[in-house]
Amino acid sequence: MSRPLLPAVVLVSGRGSNLQAIIDDNTRDPCLDLRRVISNQPQAPALERARQAGVETLAIDHRRFGSRAAFDAALAEAIDASSPALLVLAGFMRVLTAGFVQRYAGRMLNIHPALLPAFPGLHTHARAIAARVPWHGATVHYVSHEVDGGAVIARARVPVLPDDDETTLAARVLAEEHRLYPEVLRWFAAGRLRLQDGRALLDGQPCDGWPPDDG
Ligand code: GRF
Repeated sequence: MSRPLLPAVVLVSGRGSNLQAIIDDNTRDPCLDLRRVISNQPQAPALERARQAGVETLAIDHRRFGSRAAFDAALAEAIDASSPALLVLAGFMRVLTAGFVQRYAGRMLNIHPALLPAFPGLHTHARAIAARVPWHGATVHYVSHEVDGGAVIARARVPVLPDDDETTLAARVLAEEHRLYPEVLRWFAAGRLRLQDGRALLDGQPCDGWPPDDG
């Protein structure tokens, strides 16, 4: 018997290429009930991608709120109206308050364009080139109160080539993001992922080992 689709909400801020990869993967073989895509940026191209796919959209402009807490409260209300079992951050560029993170603990995932714990924060590709690391990549992790510091679920790595610039390296990483994120969401939808004592478990086994799953 097939599993019911897992209700999910996606938070975005920009271009939405990861959202597109998730939508496309889910169209091919549905595992998520994509109930709503929410953006803090009303003009985000990601919203148009969602509309094209027939997914309900909502913009909540963070600039209309006097504090981070007020914005997060409005965001939580809009999320909870869709009763998601999974909250997917896909290029969502707002730091979330501790209360918000706590509310969705164990059911909020993010993708970060670096091999965490290396290069948390912004400008990861430029920093990887400057640091002359041989490998770079992307990480899917549970969201915790520490920015880009939650339990690692899976990484995908790519080589840093001698003539790479930020653009070429970003493109190589992004292609891996588009493969990795849908795969991890599929694990979540199948009930194979769990957060326990600050560690991510896949089928009951710790999944923060090295090398990454493609290594
Ligand atoms: C991606 O690189 C993702 O890792 C990071 O933000 C970027 C979003 O890109 N969190 P897109 O909006 O999915 O195209």
